[in-house]
Amino acid sequence: MNTVRFGIVGIGKQGTLYTKFFTKAGSVLKGAKLTAVCDIDEGRRAYAEKNLPGVRVFEDYKEMFASGLIDAVMVETPHYFHPQIAMDALDAGLNVLCDKPAGVYTKQVRELNEKAKQHPELLFGMMFNQRTNPLYIKAKQLIDSGELGEMKRIVWIITDWYRPKAYYDQGGWRGTWNGEGGGVLLNQCPHQLDLFTWLAGMPETVTSQLATRGRDISVENDVTAMCTFRNGASGVFITSTHDAPGTNRLEITGDCGKIVIEKGKLVFTKNAVPEPEFSKTNTVFMGKPKTKKITYGGKAYYLRFRKHPPQHLGIIKNYTDYLLGKTKDFTAPGEQGINGLTFSNAIHLSGWLGKTVTLPFDEDLFLSELEKRKAEETAANT
Ligand SMILES: NC(=O)c1ccc[n+]([C@@H]2O[C@H](COP(=O)([O-])OP(=O)(O)OC[C@H]3O[C@@H](n4cnc5c(N)ncnc54)[C@H](O)[C@@H]3O)[C@@H](O)[C@H]2O)c1
Repeated sequence: MNTVRFGIVGIGKQGTLYTKFFTKAGSVLKGAKLTAVCDIDEGRRAYAEKNLPGVRVFEDYKEMFASGLIDAVMVETPHYFHPQIAMDALDAGLNVLCDKPAGVYTKQVRELNEKAKQHPELLFGMMFNQRTNPLYIKAKQLIDSGELGEMKRIVWIITDWYRPKAYYDQGGWRGTWNGEGGGVLLNQCPHQLDLFTWLAGMPETVTSQLATRGRDISVENDVTAMCTFRNGASGVFITSTHDAPGTNRLEITGDCGKIVIEKGKLVFTKNAVPEPEFSKTNTVFMGKPKTKKITYGGKAYYLRFRKHPPQHLGIIKNYTDYLLGKTKDFTAPGEQGINGLTFSNAIHLSGWLGKTVTLPFDEDLFLSELEKRKAEETAANT
């Protein structure tokens, strides 16, 4: 294959943004071509007919899959449909790049992963565009290389997803159990939940509190979750869509120091001696390890260390290059989509049940609890 021919399912806000990458990014997306799009909405199809010359427009994604016009499918519909469309694409012999989240509940995403496993000849990727951010890449290097030492704690406060009443008043699928299966956890946070598990690994237990504050919606817009890891480390994940001003601060502490990512910079405060060793050998009352600060960030850093073009374009380029054999480094393998979603589902389940959830949790129980909320929402709206 010299060129990857892409077809996009769903050309709403995000799908349309991606069509522009193909038409405007030029040589950055060398080897990638948009050949077809599909949407069930007549207005979106009319838009495509007018604005995407040479791109075939379909109403039914299965017809697009059978057309012979595409090699890879980008899934850009509301989340509930992601796993089924991705599985249908794999069944049709097509590669898949699925947007976040991989789905709404892990039981279905597990099926998708099984299907992908049956098709090792096809490439399954996730649109985890935040994995192209050099600061998160640096954090992963510091952790995986052992420079940070054994992890003690990871804390992410991500409360700068401000969404006013007008956002939820738009209606549609957003902000509903029936339309998207959750609130801030499903819509705004999949990237951070992915990065949290990408950096720290999977938690063993999750305890959370969910709330809906100041907005007339049935889903959560305020979350405080605590988790524990196998090595005894602990984690905290706090998010909301109603804090103004909000915060976005990730802090990871290990034996050898602390990583803080905030305001476009990563500061690594490195202990001269690992903390356990210091504590054993230090004789000074209230002594502390000596530290050195190393800062990564700023425009020059981004330009020098960016592996790919940024964000979504970077993921599409990496996906294309991997498929064409131009790189051996695949940024966001599809089967990893379940990790952040597992954490997300565990946070929901713990909040719903009012108790600590141990992983792996009961996926049927999760689904029945979700169905209960969907039914309550339907009843309240009729
Ligand atoms: N990676 C990111 O940073 C990012 C950012 C925003 C949105 N997203 C994801 O993109 C997805 C879409 O979000 P959006 O904001 O574009 O939503 P949207 O509602 O604007 O667009 C969704 C489109 O899908 C179409 N659609 C629904 N079912 C379909 C089907 N069966 N076949 C074909 N078309 C169908 C709808 O008609 C609509 O045009 C969501 O899952 C969201 O989480 C990802």
